[in-house]
Amino acid sequence: MTVDGTALVTGGSAGIGAALADEFAAHGHDLVLVARGEDRLHEVADSLAADHGVETHVLVQDLSERDAAATLHRTTRDRDLRVDVLVNNAGIGVQGAFIENDLARERDVVQVNVATPAELTHRFGGEMAARGSGGILNVASSAAWFPGPYMASYYASKAYLKNFSEALAEELRPEGVTVTALCPGPVETEFQKRAGNMDTPLGSGDLQDVEAVAAAGYEGLQAGRAVVVPGWKYRALTRVSNVLPNAFTRKRAKDLNTPD
Ligand SMILES: NC(=O)c1ccc[n+]([C@@H]2O[C@H](COP(=O)([O-])OP(=O)(O)OC[C@H]3O[C@@H](n4cnc5c(N)ncnc54)[C@H](OP(=O)(O)O)[C@@H]3O)[C@@H](O)[C@H]2O)c1
Repeated sequence: MTVDGTALVTGGSAGIGAALADEFAAHGHDLVLVARGEDRLHEVADSLAADHGVETHVLVQDLSERDAAATLHRTTRDRDLRVDVLVNNAGIGVQGAFIENDLARERDVVQVNVATPAELTHRFGGEMAARGSGGILNVASSAAWFPGPYMASYYASKAYLKNFSEALAEELRPEGVTVTALCPGPVETEFQKRAGNMDTPLGSGDLQDVEAVAAAGYEGLQAGRAVVVPGWKYRALTRVSNVLPNAFTRKRAKDLNTPD
């Protein structure tokens, strides 16, 4: 069963979201791109429309606002945009000790990475199920397998998104809707700079290629896979994590998230 039609990509103006948008456009999907920065959104949308001959739409929305999902859903209805594929890609991280970090930024991690994607999934996923077709691609992370000291909310948010996706993959398969969690390791994007972890071993180490990650995500969605971990290194790591003692993995993650 392949998933056709218009894809709404959150965080579609940069990094993995822009690469995923390119992948969807190259396969003939029309696009709705969502982010805060309007100029950048239009730049990406115009270039994808010109390169691939697809229809592109831009919705400016801050996904850290509590009513972001409701507003986005209402706007797509008002503009007569049917969403066949939902890509919950936008996500943010905050490096540092949880209790010392700015509380508002920590709250934004939970809103952008957890609450908004869950509500978008409820709203758009419900419509897909009623139509008997659709696909949801949630960009989680290989961080989902580990507790992550000094990026605690981020790692925990990705564990939520991965487990949420796997559970919904089972619930929605009989309804004709696929759900996939894309779980890359560190990827070369603006994420590290925004999260403030460029001087940690994880943020400054080997980074995965953004186009390869997007291609794996698109392929996994179309194959109906519940979990996609791009790259053999991260596939091995996530498998082996199940047999490693938690005390070891959380200490290792702490070292990787501690500035050099
Ligand atoms: N890069 C990595 O190492 C890595 C690894 C594993 C998983 N991931 C996950 O991949 C996803 C994409 O990350 P990325 O690396 O591509 O990040 P990125 O390069 O920083 O891009 C983030 C995108 O999300 C948008 N965005 C950020 N905050 C937003 C908000 N409050 N409301 C609306 N849009 C917002 C940004 O546009 P505006 O700023 O204009 O809003 C931009 O389009 C995230 O969920 C991340 O957790 C990343």
